[in-house]
Amino acid sequence: MAAKAWGGRFQQGTDPRVETFTESISFDVRLADMDIRGSQAHAQMLANVGLISQEECDQIAEGLSKIGVEIATGKMEFRADLEDIHMHIESALIECLGDVGRKLHTARSRNDQVSTDLRLFVRSAIDQVDTLLTNVQKSFVHRCDLDEGVIVPGYTHLQRAMPVMLGHYWLAYCEKFDRDRQRLADCRKRVNISPLGTAAMAGTSLPIDREQTADLLEFEGIAANSLDVSSDRDYLAEFAFALSLIAVHLSSWAEEWIIWFSTEFGYLKLPDAYTTGSSIMPQKRNPDVLELIRGKSARVVAGLQQLLVLLKGLPMAYNRDLQEDKIAVFDALDTVVACLELTPDIVAGATIDRDRINARLQEGFLDATALMEYLIKKSVPMRSAHGIVGRLVALADSKNSRLDELSLNDLRSECEQIEEDVLNVLGVENAVKVLQSYGSGGREPVARQLAMWKERLAD
Ligand code: ARG
Repeated sequence: MAAKAWGGRFQQGTDPRVETFTESISFDVRLADMDIRGSQAHAQMLANVGLISQEECDQIAEGLSKIGVEIATGKMEFRADLEDIHMHIESALIECLGDVGRKLHTARSRNDQVSTDLRLFVRSAIDQVDTLLTNVQKSFVHRCDLDEGVIVPGYTHLQRAMPVMLGHYWLAYCEKFDRDRQRLADCRKRVNISPLGTAAMAGTSLPIDREQTADLLEFEGIAANSLDVSSDRDYLAEFAFALSLIAVHLSSWAEEWIIWFSTEFGYLKLPDAYTTGSSIMPQKRNPDVLELIRGKSARVVAGLQQLLVLLKGLPMAYNRDLQEDKIAVFDALDTVVACLELTPDIVAGATIDRDRINARLQEGFLDATALMEYLIKKSVPMRSAHGIVGRLVALADSKNSRLDELSLNDLRSECEQIEEDVLNVLGVENAVKVLQSYGSGGREPVARQLAMWKERLAD
């Protein structure tokens, strides 16, 4: 029976089923690099305050580096009886250095150690996701150039509402992903606080210097309350929420494109490389990747839920339940990363079917609001103008025609203020042209936003 690091007070060995039940090495091996970095910083601090010698520190640092290589090259054998990545690394160090290795865990507990590792992990994951989000934003900005001049219906309730430049859609996604990036940056501030040195949950009587380890690990500050930080997984919940909203944004984009890809819409075509066929219907081309981006978002949201439920009943400070936090976060992260890695290529590879869009663009009275605002400019009160245009739409509908196909006489039958110049606002092209307000979907406002985005995303 292997001796446990904590075995001193135990007379019986652990039931092997308990070892299998309690192990986390099968998933927390992902923290190996962070664990080694954290331990090297901790050892350097121990040497600086005189708790170990510099020579011992150097041996520890070198031993840890070797163990890191061993793990990275798949040479370390993982054992359930060693529980987690922290114990695997420490016991390998003791095996190689003997008593010097036994000093590493001075003034430290696995409780502050695991939180340190996780914070380092999440910090770099945030940077990775931020880069991937930037690539997605760039792909949408690039689409604005590809689809220059294309006008599409804007929808509410999935019913035709008002026309907008297609670029307005692409930049709308840029805005959503930008808020995601801001959320990650904000979360990063709270992730980037060092728990190291809070030990089990009460701190230590040993003369440690927490500022030093924080500096070495590039944390921006140190946690002020050892009880709080031992139990704190707020940063994971925040991160999981940021990931969930990214997944939700990706999912609704995917949904929109699935609709646009249908024969009924026919707005866009997806590249062969990102569609799949049917095993029975030879003609089929299915948007499976988009469907799975939509489908996989469920796992990310589930991860957030898993974390919140995990946390809600825990007393202070560390509880073993917290070991399960990693399962939720790793899966949510991997899912979002996989989606974000595919997205720019799908966005760039799609083609917009301008003819299909144009063929039905004049349907659905997309210029009705422009006509109403034309009347407002002629001093007709808004509510009256609304009623007038409503009646004109009904008239056109009854004649199976568009607003710009009505005669001037027909138009004037509802309102005498309507004159020849009404032709400047009727028709979808005109209705887009007259959209002027900041942030609107008109030609010029969108062009200005596009220029701003290009500048913002320029490396
Ligand atoms: N594997 C554990 C985790 O992931 C490490 C902390 C264990 N601490 C303890 N007191 N048993 O949370």
